[in-house]
Amino acid sequence: MDIITEWSFIAALVFSIFCTFVFTYTSQRLNRPSKAYNLPPSPPKLPIIGNLHQLLGKPRHEALWQLSKQYGPLMQIQIGSKQMLVISSPPMAKQVLKTQDHIFCNRQPFQATKQLSYNFVDVVFSPHDAHWKEMRKLLVSELMGPKRAKVLHRVLVTEIENVIHSLSPNTAVNMNDMFLDIVKQMMCKVAFGNNYREQPLKGPSWDVMLDETIDLLNGSVSDSFPLLGFFIDRLSGWNRTLNERFRNLDAYIDAIIDDHLKENVEEISEEDKDFVHTLLEMSSKENASGFRLNHADLKALVMNIFIAGIDTTALVMLWAMSEIIKNPRVMKKLQSEIRNYTGRIQKVEEMNTTKMTYLKMVVKETLRLHTPAPLLIPHESLSHTQIDGYDILPNTPVIINAWGIARDPSTWGENAAKFYPERFENVGGDFGPDGFEMLPFGGGRRSCLAMNSAPTNVEFVIANLLYWFDWEPASGTKCEDMNMEDFGTIVLGKKVPLCLVPTKHKWKN
Ligand code: HEM
Repeated sequence: MDIITEWSFIAALVFSIFCTFVFTYTSQRLNRPSKAYNLPPSPPKLPIIGNLHQLLGKPRHEALWQLSKQYGPLMQIQIGSKQMLVISSPPMAKQVLKTQDHIFCNRQPFQATKQLSYNFVDVVFSPHDAHWKEMRKLLVSELMGPKRAKVLHRVLVTEIENVIHSLSPNTAVNMNDMFLDIVKQMMCKVAFGNNYREQPLKGPSWDVMLDETIDLLNGSVSDSFPLLGFFIDRLSGWNRTLNERFRNLDAYIDAIIDDHLKENVEEISEEDKDFVHTLLEMSSKENASGFRLNHADLKALVMNIFIAGIDTTALVMLWAMSEIIKNPRVMKKLQSEIRNYTGRIQKVEEMNTTKMTYLKMVVKETLRLHTPAPLLIPHESLSHTQIDGYDILPNTPVIINAWGIARDPSTWGENAAKFYPERFENVGGDFGPDGFEMLPFGGGRRSCLAMNSAPTNVEFVIANLLYWFDWEPASGTKCEDMNMEDFGTIVLGKKVPLCLVPTKHKWKN
C-alpha cells in the first residue's frame, strides 16, 4: 500500500468508527423500549457493544442460558446494532416453532450464509419465500423419499461390512474418524453417486474443508457492527478467508456436477440414478407449479447436503458411543437387547433395529444431552407480533437455546445432566410430553428434514458396532474417567477424540 492509500484507509477507518458510534447509538436509542412497545426483559447493556461483553469467555449457549436464569425464558439481547430474541423454555419454544411458526419461519441473512447459499437460493439459509418452498419440497421428495432411503440403507450396510472387516482385534480405533468416514460415504454415495470423499481436487482435505465451512457460520464482525465491521473484516482477513473457503467448496461442487454432465442421464437406469442425476433432469423442465431448477439452485442444494447432513449425523454417533462406553451399565443392557433380539446372524443386512426400544432411548438421550446444534439455526420474525404480552418487532433474529432447554432440571428432573436413557420410559411423545422439551432438530416449517431418518441411521450403526464387537477405552483409561468435554458454537464437537479398542464378540454355544 502506498502512503496516500494508507492514509485514505486510516481516514476511512476513523470515519467509520465515528459513524459506527453514531449509527449504533442512534439505533440503540430507537430500539429502546418506547412507550408504545413492551419489549422483553433484557440484561443491562453497554454503549455500542450492547450485551456482547456478557457472552464472552464461555460458549455462547452456556452464557445465554445463565442470562436467561436471571432475565427469563423470553429475553432480548443486543449485539452491536442488532436486537435479538432468546428463547429458553419449552412453552416459549412452542410459541415460536408452533403457535406462531408462520411469523418466526424466516432466516437471518449473514455475510457467510449469503455466499454459501449462492445468494439465498438454498433451503437452509434462504428466507421464507416461494422459492424456498419449492426447494424444500424437492429435497423432501427426492433426497428423503423412500427410493433414496432404500439406497441409503444399502450403502450403509456395505459401509458397516467394510468397517467390521477392517477392524483388527485389540488395535485402537479413532472413532471420530470412523464415524465421519461412514457418514461421508453414505451421504456422498446417495447424493453424488460416487466416492467423492476421496478428494478429487487439489486444496484442503475433505475434513478440513468441512470444518472450515462450518466455522464460517460463526459470522463476521460486520454481521453485528455493519460499518466498523466492514473494515475489521477486511483488515483481519475474514473476507479473504470467506472467499478462499467458498472457492474451494465451489470447485468441489463444480467437479461433482461436471462429472455428472459427462454422463448421459437418459441412459442411466432409475435404480442407478443419484440425487445429482435427478436434479440435472429436473433442471431441464418446469415442474407442475412452473418451477424450474437453475444451476445456482442445484449447487446450493449440494452445498446444503455438505453443510447440514454430515457433521451433525457423525457427531450423534460419536456422542452416543462415548456415553455408552462411559456407562458400562448402559452398554451391557444395550448389548443384551441387540444380541437377544437379533440372535445369531451372519450378515449386517440381517440386522433389524425397528423394535429395539432401549436402543431408541439411548439415541434419544444422546440427542438430549448432546444437542448437536445447541442454538439451532437462528430464525427471524417476519412481522410484528406478541408473545406473553411482550412485543416482538419485525426482522428480529430469534435464537432458540435448544442446549439449555434439553438440560433444564425443571423439565428433566434433578438428574438432567446425567446420561440416563430410561427417563424416556416415562416420557410421552418423542421429544417430551409436549414435543418441545428437547429440540435436536428444531421445529415448525424450518425443522430438519432428516428428523426421522437420521436417528434410524445412528441406531443401525451403533447396533452393529455393539453386536459384532465388545469395546473398551484405549490406553487403559477407565470408563468412568473418560473425558466428555465438548467444544464449538454451531455444532458441538468432542474435545478429546474417542479412541476405543474392539474385541470380536465370542458367542457362548
Ligand atoms: C442427527 C443429524 C442431524 C441433526 C441433529 C440436524 C439438526 C438440524 C437443526 C437443528 C436444524 C435447524 C432447525 C431449525 O432451524 O429449527 C436443521 C435444519 C436442516 N437440516 Fe438437519 N440435522 C441432521 C441431519 C441432517 C441431514 C442428514 C440432512 C440432509 C441433507 C439435513 C438437512 C437439513 C436441512 C435442509 C435443514 C434446513 C431446513 C430449513 O431451513 O427449511 N439435516 N437440522
